[in-house]
Amino acid sequence: MKAIILCAGKGTRLQPITYSLPKHVIPLANQPIIFHIIKKLVNLGIREIGLIVGYKMEIIREVVGNGSQLGAKIEYIVQNEPKGLAHAVKMGQSFIGSEPFMVFLGDNIFEDDLSNLVKHYEREKPSSIIILKEVNEPQRFGIAILEGDRVVKVVEKPKDPPSNLAIAGVYIFDEGIFTAIDILKPSKRGEYEITDAIQILINQNLVVKGEILQGKWLDTGKPKDILDANQYLMEKLKGLHILGDLDENSVLENSIYIDKNTRVENCKIIGPVIIGKNCLISNSTLYPNTCIGDATKINNANIENSVIMEKCVIANVKGKIFNSIIGNNVNIFDIEKNCCLLLGSDDRIISE
Ligand code: G1P
Repeated sequence: MKAIILCAGKGTRLQPITYSLPKHVIPLANQPIIFHIIKKLVNLGIREIGLIVGYKMEIIREVVGNGSQLGAKIEYIVQNEPKGLAHAVKMGQSFIGSEPFMVFLGDNIFEDDLSNLVKHYEREKPSSIIILKEVNEPQRFGIAILEGDRVVKVVEKPKDPPSNLAIAGVYIFDEGIFTAIDILKPSKRGEYEITDAIQILINQNLVVKGEILQGKWLDTGKPKDILDANQYLMEKLKGLHILGDLDENSVLENSIYIDKNTRVENCKIIGPVIIGKNCLISNSTLYPNTCIGDATKINNANIENSVIMEKCVIANVKGKIFNSIIGNNVNIFDIEKNCCLLLGSDDRIISE
């Protein structure tokens, strides 16, 4: 089975981070979101993957390359206009051919390995199977109504949701979906919705099945979602992995990963914490769920539950930087108070 990952979106809810980066390369546990997804597919035995790209696609190409570092074979398919998820899927038709395929939204993180979804599909060979998860705010999602495990109706972001079963970012389709997309009309928000294409399959009496997810589902659309997904993935870090070096004044507690060529001096680090390559961290305290990207320098600072990307310089933070997402090459100097920051790449905070 081949897969396509949809990663052409602009990620407006993550601005200003996404002014300079596509959201799919934002690191969670120090690895781009898209790596977590590709690895999940490779674990399912799906190696031939098409990335549907658009916004800032050159950065995605640079980060993912041909996918060999992750055991995948990646092809890039350009969606020039953001006309919706169904339009993005249609762009993948010539890459997919006529075999059943998986569609993965490029900003979704799952606890399940999704093998049940693939097994269910292979056992019953329906026209489509979608994964579903009970949610608290069903009006934010595509929603499905089930009879047994058969999906009898789907509706995109209903004001008055008929169920609380959300359509959670992974679908398997046969080639019938392309025919359905061909007759699709744009929705009220002017997009070709994949949910509406699934409703066409149902209207044609084709079999659409639902597989309810047992584990966690994290949709990383908003800053808080990024921090929640980061925290969830950090919980999986176990033990001490010290590839760099640290002086005798430094104290380490809980699970910590310090990558190659990174020096830690006179620090207290309470894991789970990950520090990338070529960093210098001195006279600082790092609290749980802090992730530091490569080549970042931190001196005399306190940081908790934050994603700090590459090549940043942070010094003299007397309060604490907490619940923050900080892009590449950001400088932060001389902050007295506690602060929660959302900074795009190349930003500067010089002093209070
Ligand atoms: C999209 C789909 C929606 C689905 C959601 C899952 O919405 O249109 O059906 O429930 O992804 O993340 P979007 O996040 O693009 O608004």
